[in-house]
Amino acid sequence: MRILSLRLIIAMIIGVTTVSLVSSWYQVRTEKDALRLDLERKSETFGESLAANAESYLQNGDTAGLKAMVERFNNRDHLLGIGIYDSEFFPLAATRDLSTFTPAIPQVLKDAVSNNRPATTYMRSRFRRLYVLAAPLHAINNHVAGGMIVVYDTGYIRSQIFHVWSQAFVHIAGQVLVIVAITLLIVRWSLVGPIARAAQWMKTLHTDRNVAPPPAKDLDFLQPLAREVAPLAESMRQARAAAEIEARLRNTNESLWTAQRLADHVRTKLRGSNLFVVSNREPYIHNRQGNEITVTVPASGLVTAIEPILCACNGTWVAQGSGNADREMVDSKDCLQVPPDNPKYTLRRVWLSEEEEEGYYYGFANEGLWPLCHMAHTRPAFRASDWKYYNEVNARFADALAEEIADEKDPVVLIQDYHFALLPRMIKERLPHVRVAIFWHIPWPNPEAFSICPWQQELLDGLLGADLIGFHVQAHCNNFLSTVDRVLEARVDWEHFSVRRKNHWSSVLPFPISVDFLEAENIAPEKDTAAEERSALIAELGIETTFLGVGVDRMDYTKGILERFLAVESFLERHPRYQGKFTFIQIGAPTRSRIPRYADFHREVESEANRINERFRRGKWRPIVLLSRQHSHEEVERYYRVAHLCMVTSLHDGMNLVAKEYVAARQDERGVLILSLFTGAARDLRDALIVNPYDTEATGEAISQALEMDVNEVADRMERMRKSVKEHNIYWWAASLIGDLCDLRLSRDAVPKTTASET
Ligand code: G6P
Repeated sequence: MRILSLRLIIAMIIGVTTVSLVSSWYQVRTEKDALRLDLERKSETFGESLAANAESYLQNGDTAGLKAMVERFNNRDHLLGIGIYDSEFFPLAATRDLSTFTPAIPQVLKDAVSNNRPATTYMRSRFRRLYVLAAPLHAINNHVAGGMIVVYDTGYIRSQIFHVWSQAFVHIAGQVLVIVAITLLIVRWSLVGPIARAAQWMKTLHTDRNVAPPPAKDLDFLQPLAREVAPLAESMRQARAAAEIEARLRNTNESLWTAQRLADHVRTKLRGSNLFVVSNREPYIHNRQGNEITVTVPASGLVTAIEPILCACNGTWVAQGSGNADREMVDSKDCLQVPPDNPKYTLRRVWLSEEEEEGYYYGFANEGLWPLCHMAHTRPAFRASDWKYYNEVNARFADALAEEIADEKDPVVLIQDYHFALLPRMIKERLPHVRVAIFWHIPWPNPEAFSICPWQQELLDGLLGADLIGFHVQAHCNNFLSTVDRVLEARVDWEHFSVRRKNHWSSVLPFPISVDFLEAENIAPEKDTAAEERSALIAELGIETTFLGVGVDRMDYTKGILERFLAVESFLERHPRYQGKFTFIQIGAPTRSRIPRYADFHREVESEANRINERFRRGKWRPIVLLSRQHSHEEVERYYRVAHLCMVTSLHDGMNLVAKEYVAARQDERGVLILSLFTGAARDLRDALIVNPYDTEATGEAISQALEMDVNEVADRMERMRKSVKEHNIYWWAASLIGDLCDLRLSRDAVPKTTASET
């Protein structure tokens, strides 16, 4: 830093001094020219009048008069002497000491006489600098009869110049001092200080868990560096947290699944191959708002679950690019590294036209398959045009994936969800050596329900291209196998839960998905206690209440949000003492709103919340707070941590990760989960209060049971649920799925080996 300061200072000094010197030199020149001009003018006027007088004395032969005149004139400013000469340059009259300043007959006098016109010169004589004016003197007939010289001392011009220079040097010295001081201050404030603070921060990162980064204004100056260092710091923090968790688990002999353990496990299983995930929804969406590009994480249980796996295994995620600034963020191969602030894996975006999105995503996937697979009493719509786009888009993803894995030796592909039923077969046809699994995140209905789909055979055939087909629960596997049995020409092996079709075996197994429990455990509460945090949150909402319930969903008709509101209403009717005291907060992320059924449903939810609020509200208390916008994981966590109860009342749900997120967030072992028996999660979380959401009164009673439950029972139930989610977290899920997929024997005619998860 000293060298930098020195360099800065020297550069500034050289710059400023050069500029000052040049300008002083210019000023000196101007001053000198002005003084000389002034002297020359004065001497010319004086010389003219002197010559006229001298000529008149000469013409009269009055030498005594000449001498007197010379003495009379010799008392002017800076005048050193006057000399009058005859034509032979014999001095006729001269001031005293003239000969001490000038040569006896100066050359300039000779020039003036011989040329018959005045001449001037600057000259040096011993210790003096002189200005000499010489002029011819004429007789009556106008012949040159002699000459005269007038000698001036120009020493005063030099003194004046010297004065100007010395002033300039004083200025320069002053400027240099000010510059040095300012430079030192700038260096200290803007460089040394921020760098020292950043260095201290980086130093403490080694030892301290939650070190706050330096203030933004510091990092602003170090922006390029900060961009590189911040992710490093974050990885270091995560690595340390992971190491601590590993160490803790080793110490307590627990064999929990962590990101690190999954990474090691997958590396061993993949034996050098790479992992590729395909889903419709991408994990990060870039949108342009004015001049800014913002990034959002969509509300999707699938994204929540898959992201930690990709982070652990550095794979590639192929998904639809759906943000309006998505194209601006990718490289020439449509790829970018994510997560944005700490890149760990590759996101490959696939672009769909509006028609494709309309037909494949809104149409066939979400108006056809979604209601077909969820028993929520919404009629599926099957349109041939949607089916055409569904086929085309599946083929587009097959091409994109084939591009990505073209150079891979034994790639492993995990396809996600009902958007890609045809993709497994398409990939196998293009690249038979690829190991393919598809995980169906939603329920699989019974064969009768599924049979209304006009393209059921094609869908099943597409799925059976996969080596492994995963569902959340065994019941969905059974439904799938029964459907295949009934619809296709295929051999269903119920003993091994597998299907043989076209000489290819597919295993059909349950893998109950989960959340990143350890991640949830690491998020420190913002306030010391849930009670404090709850009061702060209630104040922020601008309401008054004592007990809080929370629900977090996409605004989807399968989630049982209306049934939940009716249960809240029934609870308040049957337990009026809670009026004015219990508020239910519904976080509802808008979803698929271009589909009329979703737009209608959103309106229904809002009007039902209004109706119930109007019925009961008093003062600042309200029974329902509806927050219809997407919330980040951190925001949702806050509601989880403070709510006395969480309601998950889906009418039908493959798993439902909100239930598990709520459990993972309750480090304090408080809070009661009310859970629909129609969710996959109800099979894992048996200590929840299991309800049938269609039974409004019973669900309302569960609210009262939750609020009045003995604290020890609350803690016991929560502890057991936490243990279950902790042991069966998302890393465990991924390890089982990937492990089973990698362990399958891919020989075309063999029954797949029975795997760990079957036992
Ligand atoms: C369900 C599906 C996911 C989907 C999510 C969000 O969880 O199983 O595949 O991503 O809903 O829906 P969206 O249509 O917005 O992706």
